[in-house]
Amino acid sequence: MAADLITMDDLTNEEIEALLNDAEKLLPVAKGEVYLPLLEGKLLGNMFFEPSTRTRMSFETAMKRLGGNVVNLGALASSSVTKGETLFDTMKMVDGYCDVAVLRHPRQGAAQYAADACEIPIMNGGDGAGYHPTQTMLDLFTIRQAHGRLDLNVVMVGDLRYGRTVHSLSHALSRFGANLTFIAPASLSMPEEIIEDLQKSGANITVSEDLLSNLPNADVIYMTRIQKERFADEDEYLKVAGIYKLSRSNLKDVKESMIIMHPLPRIDEIHPNVDNTPHARYFDQAFNGVVARMALLCRVFGVSVPKEVGK
Ligand code: CP
Repeated sequence: MAADLITMDDLTNEEIEALLNDAEKLLPVAKGEVYLPLLEGKLLGNMFFEPSTRTRMSFETAMKRLGGNVVNLGALASSSVTKGETLFDTMKMVDGYCDVAVLRHPRQGAAQYAADACEIPIMNGGDGAGYHPTQTMLDLFTIRQAHGRLDLNVVMVGDLRYGRTVHSLSHALSRFGANLTFIAPASLSMPEEIIEDLQKSGANITVSEDLLSNLPNADVIYMTRIQKERFADEDEYLKVAGIYKLSRSNLKDVKESMIIMHPLPRIDEIHPNVDNTPHARYFDQAFNGVVARMALLCRVFGVSVPKEVGK
């Protein structure tokens, strides 16, 4: 059985579109309005070696809303990881216990490593500064929900060097014809190899350090947190901490339809006075993690989502 999801290259554009359609149908299930036990008897292993609120909880919610069940690695301090157990051995355990596993790990490449070690499908829940493809599915869903299409002007802002969400999202959006603007300080710019990959596939890319001048033309502003935990030197972090901040007063000249997204958690990138504007979509985006992950879990098990859920 192989339905690993390590990067967005594991999904064709047709598969992405079908998953987004399935996610749409599953909205009443995610809201608890309809019970649809498509995954009854299936067990998900939540293997989080780094902190998470949304990815871990939305996978668990998705599984349980679909009648499945979940076991968690739990706090690392209470697991045998503290005794020195390797990632390989730990994943061999979940391979025996579960039917599918989500892995979040600080090391880039850890998800592929786990997938090579396991028979069960592995879903990459974020591998260091690498990729975060299940986040990309909910991001695409949120953009399509707001605009009805993906070939838009998308501005990604903040920590583009270590930001796995923007690495995965830029690959996916370029395949659907989006124009991408990358805004970051020089020390946190999008990795050159990612820009080269995107350009090879014909993506239209603009690189800038200035947020405000890029707001009026944007259909989507995708803010990200400067990830303190990825810096070896705190002084380097302090040089860029708080560099991009969006508040209500910055939104006077933006398009009426422009949406502001953020994978969350936010620190100070988006002022709370933006939350009640029609542009703010980051909490809806986080909720969409449930439907996006439901659709992905159904795909893993080869389960079809009914055409009309709840009728
Ligand atoms: N967006 C995201 O990955 O959030 P968590 O780190 O809380 O899972």
